[in-house]
Amino acid sequence: MGNNVLKAEKLFGLLGHPVGHSMSPAMHNDQFEKQGLPYFYHAFDVDPRDLKEAVEGMRALGISGFNVTVPHKVEIMSYLDEIDEEAQIIGAVNTVVNKKGRWIGYNTDGKGYVQSLLTKTGKGLHDYNILVIGAGGASRAVVTSLYKYGVQSLAITNRTISKAENIRKNLGHEIEILEKEKAEIKTGEYDLIINTTSMGMSPHVNTIPWKTDVLKQGCLCSDLIYNPLKTTWLKEAEGQGADTLNGVGMFVGQGAVAFELWTGIWPDIERMSEVVLEQLR
Ligand code: ATR
Repeated sequence: MGNNVLKAEKLFGLLGHPVGHSMSPAMHNDQFEKQGLPYFYHAFDVDPRDLKEAVEGMRALGISGFNVTVPHKVEIMSYLDEIDEEAQIIGAVNTVVNKKGRWIGYNTDGKGYVQSLLTKTGKGLHDYNILVIGAGGASRAVVTSLYKYGVQSLAITNRTISKAENIRKNLGHEIEILEKEKAEIKTGEYDLIINTTSMGMSPHVNTIPWKTDVLKQGCLCSDLIYNPLKTTWLKEAEGQGADTLNGVGMFVGQGAVAFELWTGIWPDIERMSEVVLEQLR
């Protein structure tokens, strides 16, 4: 790694707090090496109070691009020169590209998710009857991109209904908003159920976001969580005969789209997944 830093012609990074467990440096540095690019990626732990100075420093140093993660994804937008339309609708930025000294903000989370979903299903999503659980930042990204990449309609259910209403207002699409009890009754109608909440994420591994006893035959249950790799919900869903998708694909997908924005090269997704899985095991 040390040698790579010394030889690096371009530097990329991650701004977050904390960043100690981030899998992005390993994923991107491995891919730079595999693609023969003399670049280096480093995770910077930036306290929210220092974000402005950190971005100014990145600019002064001529950093080529960076990812942004919790808790900076919204705040970062104030310090950029331009924000891509998808990121504007989502209301958050996770990838920044230095284009001739101008910082351009993108959001690759939703596109990364759709990419992992299409890889899984192997076909378009036009006929899918979709239920999205949750209406936080992750839901916003996923719902925005699902519409952008071909979905015609979907339903959102959330503990706080007003947050789902905000997503609908922002997007201007025909989103059905359902209280939990109403959505539960319709569970057997959905082809795809996406959990965007933190229910089931370590350490809350026994929390289940949705019931699995009345799933439609062939239903795909999709969790954005990758720690644990298979949530209790996905295990239960498999037990009921459903197909499942964990959050590794979305993580790799968002990284792949960022990598392409920075380098113009579509990376080796399978290799990126292997690197991520090595870190998770
Ligand atoms: P993220 O950016 O990861 O999406 P977030 O914006 O805090 O995080 O959103 C978390 C989502 O998980 C929300 O939809 C939240 O529901 P509320 O909007 O009602 O807060 C949902 N969530 C988290 N814990 C939950 C729980 N125990 N029960 C129900 N919903 C939960």
